[in-house]
Amino acid sequence: MNDLAVRDVPDPEMRNEQDIVVKVRKTVTCGSDLHLIGGYIPFMSRGDVLGHEFVGEVVEVGAQVRKHRVGDRVVVSSFVSCGRCWFCSQELYSLCDNGNTNPAITESMWGFAPGGCFGYSHAMGGFAGSHAEYIRVPFGDVGAFTIPDEVDDLRALFASDSAATGWMGADLGGVKPGDVVAVWGAGAVGQMAARASVLLGAERVLIIDRYDNRLDQAAKFAGAEPLNYVRDDVGAALLEATGGRGPDVCIEAVGMEAHRPGPQHAYDQVKQQLRLQTDRPSAVRDAIYQARKGGSVFVLGVYAGFVDKFPLGAMMNKGLTVRGAQMHGQRYIPMLLDRMARGELVTEHLATHVMPLDRGVEGYRMFKDKEDGCVRAVFEP
Ligand SMILES: NC(=O)c1ccc[n+]([C@@H]2O[C@H](COP(=O)([O-])OP(=O)(O)OC[C@H]3O[C@@H](n4cnc5c(N)ncnc54)[C@H](O)[C@@H]3O)[C@@H](O)[C@H]2O)c1
Ligand SMILES: [Zn+2]
Ligand SMILES: [Zn+2]
Repeated sequence: MNDLAVRDVPDPEMRNEQDIVVKVRKTVTCGSDLHLIGGYIPFMSRGDVLGHEFVGEVVEVGAQVRKHRVGDRVVVSSFVSCGRCWFCSQELYSLCDNGNTNPAITESMWGFAPGGCFGYSHAMGGFAGSHAEYIRVPFGDVGAFTIPDEVDDLRALFASDSAATGWMGADLGGVKPGDVVAVWGAGAVGQMAARASVLLGAERVLIIDRYDNRLDQAAKFAGAEPLNYVRDDVGAALLEATGGRGPDVCIEAVGMEAHRPGPQHAYDQVKQQLRLQTDRPSAVRDAIYQARKGGSVFVLGVYAGFVDKFPLGAMMNKGLTVRGAQMHGQRYIPMLLDRMARGELVTEHLATHVMPLDRGVEGYRMFKDKEDGCVRAVFEP
């Protein structure tokens, strides 16, 4: 947090004929930024620009851009993808082979590099982020989408990242009509996963957090049943909701800075601080433990490296499908914008605090500390 500041930076320049430049109108904090600010993902350099969820107006288009014109109002996927490689052709956009211009770091950590992401460290391409007046968008035809007139900026903003992420968790987690779904985390991502599960036909969706204001939003706008893990017996409630069988799909939307009452949390925190593990995976452990036999667990929360006490035995013996991914925004954004236009998917309640970009440091502090009920801080450059 101490390293955050609002400063003048050079305006972006076109580097490629497929680039567009967008004048940013709204840009928003994400839980993923907290992992960068907290130093848990140590590949940021001084002067890097944060931000990967944004809407704005196209002000420049490269010679090879076909879909966009100057003046278009667009929302842009947080991941940078070429649209042409083998992975993009499978709609696995966040795994694009050409989106990360700096693949060596993640190749050495994970075997292969995923795509790049705006404002998300040099490990993810080192692209300047959206908390700025202007941003260069590589592969503009692939990553930017024109917003329908019926959808205002504030609603469309969340199609960039949170809504696409939540939808992916429900979709690739395999939510089917009649399922019971449990979602850990009621931040923007968890709320969007809950809403997607409802829209995909889940019979019941239970959402777990300790902040009542977030749980109340999930009940009101997503149609989910709130569980406060400090007050309620979550395990008992999930059994009760499923006739003793356990949820069909468990979606984890918490990430590497999970909180948990009790000794397991202290153990995880000490190991993380000593760099004996990179992540605190308590919500993933809970999701694996609570899932029904033969069920599925989808990890949306961001994890960087290695964890301890991963319940491999439960995963194997219960026949679980455990998956995770960074979001494939380009696959979902057009459908999300349609649903937003029809009013099926609302997101603007997530923008609890809207302020000028000059107040960015304060906005991040409020978001991190959940001060004044902050769910997301939106900045207007
Ligand atoms: N996969 C992707 O592409 C993608 C995209 C966006 C965000 N993310 C990740 O998703 C996660 C959530 O993002 P967000 O913006 O909603 O973050 P957020 O910080 O606003 O919300 C996280 C929520 O989890 C809750 N929580 C903490 N410990 C918990 C526990 N043990 N059980 C239940 N809830 C718990 C917190 O109280 C908080 O409300 C982050 O890790 C973020 O990095 C992933
Ligand atoms: Zn994000
Ligand atoms: Zn690609």
